[in-house]
Amino acid sequence: MHPRPRVSRQVALAAHPGNKLQSTDFTMTEVPLPPLALGQVLLRNRWFRVSVSTRLMASRDAKDIKGIPFPPLKPGDALSDGAIGEVIATTPESQLQVGEIVLHPLGWRDYAIADAHQCKVLQRESIEPAAYLGHGWTAYAALTRGIRIKRGDIVFVSSGAGAIGSMAAQIARNLGASRVIGSTGSTDKADWMKRDLGYDAVIVRNDGPFIEQLAKAAPHGIDVCVDMVGGEQLSAAVSCAREDARFVILGALVAELNAERSTSVAPADIDTFRLPIMGITLRGYSAGEPSSDAFDEWIRRLDEWQQEGAICLPSTTFNGLDKAPEALQQACEGRLKGVVLVEL
Ligand SMILES: NC(=O)c1ccc[n+]([C@@H]2O[C@H](COP(=O)([O-])OP(=O)(O)OC[C@H]3O[C@@H](n4cnc5c(N)ncnc54)[C@H](OP(=O)(O)O)[C@@H]3O)[C@@H](O)[C@H]2O)c1
Repeated sequence: MHPRPRVSRQVALAAHPGNKLQSTDFTMTEVPLPPLALGQVLLRNRWFRVSVSTRLMASRDAKDIKGIPFPPLKPGDALSDGAIGEVIATTPESQLQVGEIVLHPLGWRDYAIADAHQCKVLQRESIEPAAYLGHGWTAYAALTRGIRIKRGDIVFVSSGAGAIGSMAAQIARNLGASRVIGSTGSTDKADWMKRDLGYDAVIVRNDGPFIEQLAKAAPHGIDVCVDMVGGEQLSAAVSCAREDARFVILGALVAELNAERSTSVAPADIDTFRLPIMGITLRGYSAGEPSSDAFDEWIRRLDEWQQEGAICLPSTTFNGLDKAPEALQQACEGRLKGVVLVEL
């Protein structure tokens, strides 16, 4: 039996980041753990996710943004993000049992007090943290609900080595894409994406005009674009779109990870006349919290593809809560691959 802790360490924002987010913008604090209220549980966190969206939410002029699952941060606020924890104390109203493993939104701390309705119980035997905390669900939802990918589609995935992108490429292939093209920031990552994620071609941004590189990688054009970047990558994708192309736009890293200043404003120059002429659809999409049916469908498909050796779960894991700010800094600098996790 785990002894009941009286305090928990958590990471809080120390100061709004300047142009470049630094691990020193965050601080470790210790807070008392009060008695549980009706329907609450005490969780010992085992893993949590680190998301680059934290840079935007930590910025001085952050606002509530629909689709980003945590609120704007001011100095002193504790960070949060998706986490997997073990129930170590309960209240009868919670209907959760000590020892159960749950998915919940209160990462960035050793222990969390959560309301039972924030917790989804996971099967104990095989907890693969990247299956639950990674963005496979987001990518699967984008390709099956945001748009409907079709057999034979030529697909472009921007930020193709990232948390969502690394899964979107593999899922697109498993759902019948005939050619998958990605973008990234370095040749090392491009090699890895072709070798391990099955990309047919990878464009390295800042390695020449993006539109020329995309036109070369997709000489017959693209049918589907899964866009996490915006800016010139989105403009180029519209220029290379074939008839009836479908775009699912999930984020705008060009704004969030802008070298000058993180912002939620992401203008892009698009030839809009192509939209009616070619019947192109652009859809902004937020996967949000899945209904259990949809999430179970994703986990079932993942299981099948894993058994066939047709998918991997790319992740970079840091050990220890004190390493989490450094993980975030490195993620924002584009130094990491797949979903970024912290193991406690
Ligand atoms: N709609 C939804 O449901 C949903 C859910 C979660 C997240 N999101 C959003 O989706 C986007 C992607 O999220 P993610 O967690 O998968 O992020 P991510 O792709 O893992 O983001 C980190 C990567 O962004 C790339 N990057 C860095 N600076 C860049 C720049 N200036 N321009 C273009 N790329 C840059 C780097 O990759 P390279 O070195 O490979 O370029 C870096 O490794 C974010 O905007 C996020 O807020 C949407």
